Amino acid sequence: MIQCEGLVKIFKSEDIEVVALQGLNLSVEQGEMMAIIGNSGSGKSTLLNILGGLDHPSAGQVSVGGWDLLKIQDDQLVEYKRNTVGFVWQNNARNLLPYLTALENVEMPMLLTGKLDRAYAQELLERVGLKDRMHNKLHQLSGGEQQRVAIAISLSNRPKLLLADEPTGSVDTATSDQIMQIFRQVNRELGITVVIVTHDLTLAGKVDRVVAIRDGLTSTEFVKRNPNLDLAAAELAGGLQEVHEAFVVVDRVGRLQVPKEYLESVGISGRASMEFDGEKIVITAPKPLEEEQS
Ligand SMILES: Nc1ncnc2c1ncn2[C@@H]1O[C@H](COP(=O)(O)OP(=O)(O)O)[C@@H](O)[C@H]1O
Ligand SMILES: [Mg+2]
Repeated sequence: MIQCEGLVKIFKSEDIEVVALQGLNLSVEQGEMMAIIGNSGSGKSTLLNILGGLDHPSAGQVSVGGWDLLKIQDDQLVEYKRNTVGFVWQNNARNLLPYLTALENVEMPMLLTGKLDRAYAQELLERVGLKDRMHNKLHQLSGGEQQRVAIAISLSNRPKLLLADEPTGSVDTATSDQIMQIFRQVNRELGITVVIVTHDLTLAGKVDRVVAIRDGLTSTEFVKRNPNLDLAAAELAGGLQEVHEAFVVVDRVGRLQVPKEYLESVGISGRASMEFDGEKIVITAPKPLEEEQS
């Protein structure tokens, strides 16, 4: 579904350049439900906006559902956004209209593309648990209910891929659980690939795979030890370490990212010594120069 290789995004303004993604690799299978985690500023939203066709990549390769997003033409991009992706934001005010009902909100994007399907709009609102609230105006709904309307809207164009940027960032734990459950149902029942960006580690236990981004690069990947483990068991087991196995991501040409804490604790900066003993690769701080010369 998603294939990024060496993806680069540089934001340029008057005299400063920010390298938000510096050669990121990511591969997501069709039908997967995965999460992207990382500290604030690590490039998560930048990546999601590129995948959603909202921002243009600077270099590298990125393809989604067969579309090459680096070479895509403007008219194709409109088609891509209409047919391939759905988007959910933390701040749902971005795609909700407060003076319309929940149902009218879901119908709006259908009207814009000329394919109004009221029965499907109603079905989507039922799916997110708002059957009895669909004729309420948006401002009469709670924050969590509004976020569920936003999810129904994101599904209104029958996307193959659902992208959610911090979708539970401004709701309480109970609502957050409910939202994650809706994503899981959408993934299982509609077969939609789901990518969730979050900085909340507890959410990560509820997906199949977690990719950690650090400074615009994929650094670590957590894969569920037992893919048959159900949601409840995963929740009981708690954090990432219990449920997932951690891997360092190594790209095609052998690059990997060593966590800053590791480097600092052994005093590596700039260069390191690397030894291979036939089984293990050991990276150490280089010997002081004086020693080598004597
Ligand atoms: N439109 C922009 N213009 C300039 N810099 C930006 C822009 N958007 C994001 N950045 C910068 O890119 C980096 C990654 O940001 P972002 O993708 O928003 O991170 P995250 O979502 O992980 O918090 C940050 O240093 C941020 O300041
Ligand atoms: Mg962000």
